[in-house]
Amino acid sequence: MTAWREPVGDLWLTGRVLGPEDFPTVRALHHQSLVGQPPGLVNPETDAFLADHLGALGLTLGVFGGDGVLVAYAILGLPTAEAAYNFGRVVGVADLGRVAHLDGVAVAPAWRGRGLHRGLVTRRLTLAAEAGRRVVVATIAPLNRPSLRTALGAGLRVRAVHPMFASRALRFLVVRDLEGEPMLETTQPLRLPLGATEALHERLVQGWRGYALDEAADHLLLATERAGDGS
Ligand SMILES: CC(C)(COP(=O)(O)OP(=O)(O)OC[C@H]1O[C@@H](n2cnc3c(N)ncnc32)[C@H](O)[C@@H]1OP(=O)(O)O)[C@@H](O)C(=O)NCCC(=O)NCCS
Repeated sequence: MTAWREPVGDLWLTGRVLGPEDFPTVRALHHQSLVGQPPGLVNPETDAFLADHLGALGLTLGVFGGDGVLVAYAILGLPTAEAAYNFGRVVGVADLGRVAHLDGVAVAPAWRGRGLHRGLVTRRLTLAAEAGRRVVVATIAPLNRPSLRTALGAGLRVRAVHPMFASRALRFLVVRDLEGEPMLETTQPLRLPLGATEALHERLVQGWRGYALDEAADHLLLATERAGDGS
């Protein structure tokens, strides 16, 4: 898949896999997406990170408006098993060569809330599988509700909370095994505030998994695996 038509409401936008020549526009949209965000919510990417993911280290998807302006990008990281930057290590994935990252994403403010991110998550899961990757990992700030909601809606589960990146900011490690996640026992979920990171950490290390947000998007719902479900 190098180009596609992306439905947004009544419109059809154009999507394609971006290349090194798109670096200035990706960089500009990234910096625009940081404006007005509470500190620590979105990780500022280095130029090297963006350039590497327009090249050998992954795939960067872009969606363009009718005027040819980039309105969204989303990065799929395809790290090597040896790479220091392989989130699989943080969550104990045995085969690090089969890890893919849902890395940085930005949607231009005027285009938010129309499902672009949801579509770009689905597309990256498909591309990860096509690249032979099995475990998809995203890092999301605990209070980044739109991002978290989209990831959980796409079947990823909060597996850990851990200090990440140069800033050592706390991030949820949100994971999906594309070959199947164990069934969860969701009849009596545990509800913990998104900001209660110590309590969340305690539960996550005990094997609880965050699988949804409550209606107000203030609490994470957690459950344990169903007994006997080894899938
Ligand atoms: C996060 C971001 C990429 C979302 O893009 P988007 O295209 O507006 O997201 P979508 O329209 O696909 O919405 C995705 C979900 O988030 C929900 N959502 C959107 N804004 C929300 C908000 N302020 N609070 C709670 N949920 C929200 C939507 O209802 C939707 O949920 P649903 O699928 O259950 O209906 C966009 O807001 C953005 O660029 N933010 C700045 C950069 C950033 O935060 N990057 C992510 C770092 S991990």
